[in-house]
Amino acid sequence: MFRPVVPLATVVLLALQGPAAGADAANGKALAEKHCARCHVVGAFNPHGGIGSTPSLQWIKKLPDWRDRFQTFYVRRPHLAFIKVKGLEPLTKLPPYAAPITITPGDADDIFAFVESMPVPKGHSDITPIDGK
Ligand code: HEC
Repeated sequence: MFRPVVPLATVVLLALQGPAAGADAANGKALAEKHCARCHVVGAFNPHGGIGSTPSLQWIKKLPDWRDRFQTFYVRRPHLAFIKVKGLEPLTKLPPYAAPITITPGDADDIFAFVESMPVPKGHSDITPIDGK
């Protein structure tokens, strides 16, 4: 029988909570530019950077469930292999195959607050318009 480790009600409550009050979008921006920009385009920071097969952070915001994806990115593939969140039991004991990243739960909230502030690119473009261009 399927027995969740955490009671379902807790998961639902956590999901409904959204980003923690007082999250620091400026810190989230700095963290995203330091860590996420290795693979993702992060807005205007590295419009021609990232890895080709990896969606830009702003493109992910086009998806209707982008909030879920950003609130749980560290347990989603591929991140669970190389991102460690302090205080959370790692989901795998395998060694990371990419340079490891360690963040706190508060850092994840800050990154979410930053992503929330990013404009969503229009049309099929993956690039956030910069100064109306
Ligand atoms: C080593 C490369 C790498 C790094 C570093 C990285 N990502 Fe990703 N990320 C990916 C790839 C590749 C995908 C696409 C996965 C897929 O298509 O299934 C992805 C997908 C995502 C998704 C969508 C996940 C889903 O299941 O829909 C989110 C959200 C995300 N990344 C956030 C972040 C954030 C925030 C950071 C920085 C803290 C980050 N990523 C750092 C490679 C990376």
